[in-house]
Amino acid sequence: MDKDTLTIIDNRTNQTYMIPIHRGTIRAMDLRQIKTGPEDFGLMTYDPAYMNTAACQSAVTFLDGEKGILRYRGYPIEQLAEHCSYLEVAYLLIFGELPTMEELLAWEREIGQHTMIHENVKKFMDGFHHDAHPMGILISTVAALSTFYPDSHRIQDAASRRHQVVRLIGKLPTVAAYAYRHRLGRPYVYPDPELSYTKNYMNMLWKMTEPKYAANPVLARALEVLFILHADHEQNCSTSTMRAVGSSNADPFATMAGAIAALSGPLHGGANEEVLLMLDEIGTVSNIPGFIAQVKEGKRKLMGFGHRVYKNYDPRARIIKKVAEEVFEVTGRNPKIDIALALERIALSDEYFIKRKLYPNVDFYSGIIYEAMGFTPDQFTVLFAIPRTAGWLAQWQELMQDPDRKIARPRQVYVGEERREFVPITARSAAEPAKVAR
Ligand code: CMC
Repeated sequence: MDKDTLTIIDNRTNQTYMIPIHRGTIRAMDLRQIKTGPEDFGLMTYDPAYMNTAACQSAVTFLDGEKGILRYRGYPIEQLAEHCSYLEVAYLLIFGELPTMEELLAWEREIGQHTMIHENVKKFMDGFHHDAHPMGILISTVAALSTFYPDSHRIQDAASRRHQVVRLIGKLPTVAAYAYRHRLGRPYVYPDPELSYTKNYMNMLWKMTEPKYAANPVLARALEVLFILHADHEQNCSTSTMRAVGSSNADPFATMAGAIAALSGPLHGGANEEVLLMLDEIGTVSNIPGFIAQVKEGKRKLMGFGHRVYKNYDPRARIIKKVAEEVFEVTGRNPKIDIALALERIALSDEYFIKRKLYPNVDFYSGIIYEAMGFTPDQFTVLFAIPRTAGWLAQWQELMQDPDRKIARPRQVYVGEERREFVPITARSAAEPAKVAR
C-alpha cells in the first residue's frame, strides 16, 4: 500500500477510499467521490474561516506559528529587518531573490518615477469630508486609480502586471500622505524621488514651509523596519481577499482596494488603532487588573493580543519592542509603553492567556511607536497598508502564474427552507422576528 495515502471508511456505505497525501494535505476534491448513492452530491469539508484549509501553494512567506518563525523567501525576518531597506525587501518578495546593488538602484529609481499621482486623483480626494477615515479614503482612492490606468486590465500580460506593481508600490505613500494632509487642511506635498521610500513619505506628511524637509534618520530607519515587518504575512485575511478578488481577473487596483478593505477591520490591521484607544481607556497601570477581569469575563478583547497562526510569541512584536526604545531616544518616551509593558506582563502570567496561547502580536506595540513619531491613531492602519502592498502584489503575481488558478468559489452547506409555494402579498402574515435577519 502507498504510505502517502489516507484510508477512509465511509460507515454509511462500508466503502473504503484511498486518498493521496501530498505535502501534508489531501485534495478536498478527492472527497467528492465519497457518496451514499448516485443522487448524493459527494462529501465536502466544512471549514468556516478556513481554520484548516490551504487555499493555495505559495513560495513567498514561511510562517511557523508554534515556533514563532517568520521568513520571506527563506530569509529570517530578524535578518531582513536588521540589514535591508524596505524597497530591498519589496524586491525580494516580488521577484524571489534579494537584488544586487545595481538591481536595487534601478528598482529604487523605477519606483521613484512612479510616485506621482494624476492631478484628478487629488481632486477626487478633495471630495472627501475633512473627518473621513484615512482607510476609507485609501480604499476608495486605490479603487479609483483603476480608472486612471485602463491598461491594468491586461492582467495576463506579464509586462503590464509588472508596471502596475511598480505603480502601486510607488503611489501608495503618496495617496496615504495626501489623505493625511487633506484631513488637516494642509496643501499636498509632491513626492520627491530623490529621497528614500520612508523619507519621501515623511516629507509628504510633514513638510511645511522649509525648502527641504529633513527627516530624522533614526525615525526614518524605524519606519523602514516597521515597513519590513509588515511587508507580508502569508495567507492572512487581506491577502486571501487579494487572492479571492484577483482570481476573478479583476485589475490589480480594484483587487488591492478589496485587500485594503479587509485590512481595515479591527480584528486585522485595524487592531493597531484599537490598541491605542484601549491604552487610552485603561489610562494607568492601576486600572489594568480591572480591564483584564473584563477580558476574562468575555466582555472585552485585549486588542493586539492573539493570532490565528502564532501560538508562540509573534517574532515581529519582539523586534518592534527594540525599535520602540530607539524611537523614544529621539521623541521622548511615550508613557503608554509602560501601560503596554505592564499589560503584557500581567496577561502573560495569567492562566486565561497562557491556556489560550495568547501573546502580543505585531499590532500591540506598533501604534505606541507611531504615536511617538507624530501619527494620530487613525493613520496607524494606513501605515500597515503601505508596506503590505508589496506582499499583496507578490501573492497576486504568484496567483496569476499559478497553473492551479481558478476563480475562488467556495461551496456552502445550505440550511434554509426547502421548496415552498409563493404567497401573494395580501395573504402574507409577518414572519417571526427570530427567523429573519433584520
Ligand atoms: N483577547 C481576549 N481573548 C482572546 C483574544 C483577545 N485578543 N484573542 C483570542 N481570545 C480568546 C477567544 O475568546 C477564544 O477563547 P475561548 O476558547 O474561550 O472561546 C480563544 O482565545 C481563541 O480565540 P479565537 O477567537 O478562536 O481565535 P482566532 O484565531 O479566531 O482569532 C484574532 C484571532 C487575531 C482575530 C483574535 O485573537 C483577536 O481578535 N485578537 C484581537 C485583535 C488583534 O489584535 N488582531 C490583530 C491580529 S495580528 C495582525 C494582523 O495580521 O492583522
